[in-house]
Amino acid sequence: MSQLKSWGVLLIAAVLVACGSDKQTEYSAEQEKAIAERIAPAGALAMEGDPIASAPVAAPSNSGPRSGEDIYKKSCFACHATGAAGAPKLGDAGAWADRIAQGMDTLNDHAWNGFKTMPAKGNCFDCSEEEIQAAVQYIVDGSQ
Ligand code: HEC
Repeated sequence: MSQLKSWGVLLIAAVLVACGSDKQTEYSAEQEKAIAERIAPAGALAMEGDPIASAPVAAPSNSGPRSGEDIYKKSCFACHATGAAGAPKLGDAGAWADRIAQGMDTLNDHAWNGFKTMPAKGNCFDCSEEEIQAAVQYIVDGSQ
């Protein structure tokens, strides 16, 4: 009976060791390092490789394209609301008619690449092409 008992204790000890419990076993620094290295790739994979894991990281800074109105208020307003630097004002249909007549492709190109005193991207350096086009559309919609 006592033999059975000590087998039981051995079995429990074996299970605890197998599970990595440090209650029964003291790991050497080298072993701890080896364990850390062994489990590290799983952590790195989840952090960098897994698109699901990386999604929440990207979400706060880029939750989809901003609206044309947002971009206008952030970057275009300074000139296109006041006429600064000779900018055609939003809502000034007379100033926009000939420009709009060039077609949206030309307006988008001029907004993205710059045109005379109109700075490239309206100085919105973190704007995507899609966002600049939305801002152009917003100005055009409000100026006809
Ligand atoms: C520093 C002032 C300034 C800022 C900021 C600015 N613009 Fe302009 N923009 C101008 C000026 C000046 C013109 C007129 C250029 C000309 O025809 O001489 C212009 C012209 C334009 C035109 C007409 C181009 C054409 O072909 O006639 C578009 C479209 C335009 N801007 C879009 C934008 C958008 C979109 C933004 C914001 C993302 C923006 N602008 C920000 C000054 C600015």
